[in-house]
Amino acid sequence: MNRFVTRRGLFATLAAGGLAFWSRGLRAAGGVKKVAFALSKVEALAKVGGFAVLKIKGRDVLLVRDGDKSVRALDPTCSHQKCTVAYEPKDGLLHCPCHKSAYNLDGKVLDGPAPKPLTIFAATLDGDRVILSLPEA
Ligand code: FES
Repeated sequence: MNRFVTRRGLFATLAAGGLAFWSRGLRAAGGVKKVAFALSKVEALAKVGGFAVLKIKGRDVLLVRDGDKSVRALDPTCSHQKCTVAYEPKDGLLHCPCHKSAYNLDGKVLDGPAPKPLTIFAATLDGDRVILSLPEA
């Protein structure tokens, strides 16, 4: 287990494995599928600064609770050699354990060797409901 995979984060990932069963596809348009789920179902996102990697509609989505009324969603696949980045609450950045690339929550590369930003997914928090716009696979 690398230093970026905390026990809590790993638990959140495993516990959220069932998300595919209860997340709801809202509509598909232009190759984008909207998916909604209850924030209260993901304990790791209950507080600002919380994060979790969830498997949603067959893809990994890194969610970070970055505010009382907001959440960020990113593809955690590093643009260098496809390792999985992890969120570090201490500095609010995403770090790749393989070759130390760093990204901010907008997906921008802050430190290489990553050549491109992370993919960002539109995410809104409406009360207890997280709504994500994911490209169709
Ligand atoms: S795979 Fe992420 S920096 Fe190399």
